[in-house]
Amino acid sequence: MRRKLIAGNWKMNMTRGNGLELVQNVVAKMQTVQNPAFDVLICPPFTLLSDAVKAAGSVIAVGSQEVSIEQNFGAFTGDVSANMVADIGATYAIVGHSERRADRGDTNATVQKKAENALAAGLTPVICVGETFDEREAGQAIAVVSKQVRESVPVGVSGDKIVVAYEPVWAIGTGKVATVDDVRAMHQAIRDVLVDMMGAAEAGKVRVLYGGSVKPGNAAELLAVPNVDGALIGGASLKADDFWAIAATQL
Ligand code: PGA
Repeated sequence: MRRKLIAGNWKMNMTRGNGLELVQNVVAKMQTVQNPAFDVLICPPFTLLSDAVKAAGSVIAVGSQEVSIEQNFGAFTGDVSANMVADIGATYAIVGHSERRADRGDTNATVQKKAENALAAGLTPVICVGETFDEREAGQAIAVVSKQVRESVPVGVSGDKIVVAYEPVWAIGTGKVATVDDVRAMHQAIRDVLVDMMGAAEAGKVRVLYGGSVKPGNAAELLAVPNVDGALIGGASLKADDFWAIAATQL
């Protein structure tokens, strides 16, 4: 059984005051649940990671939204390495988010390298994939995403060491959500690629999240789709009540 993962991607939002309050609120809500059957992860900006780790304790997990393609210390102005993220106690790292693929030059090859760096640092990479609107309209969605998975997931990795997040680009921040049938078909296709890459036993351990305009009102339906093992939530993760309402569908 794969435990569901409810993950928040804060993107470039929040400052110390309201960020810390948001973490504390989510932690307090999680503490009201005895033996939760799901995990909660928040991914704040780098500036708040250390504070978030302290506030999260062992109640929820904390991750970064990116790691450098460089693994070791060096003259890489502006970069933060996976080792540095692990050093402050975070345990996950998002890599290959579509906003970084589209706007910051990430390719499948760089995403794979960043995921490898995360793994080497002891972090669980959340490897993002997803097709654009044009690719879906052209009937290419499954082919595009399958190729992204095949080329972005590190070779030879154990299934429980990674998370994959399927986020159709056209559904991110737009209020548009993929239909349940499309989500079911895509998550099955991703599982099939993973089986091909690592064998059924390991592929069966990979948590595959859905992301893109997940809200309290649609979360239960999306999280009930076979092979959907959690959600990656942007906008709705910035309000504790909304984020928690999504997690609470799993109570
Ligand atoms: P959204 O973002 O929930 O605001 O659509 C999801 C994401 O980009 O991870």
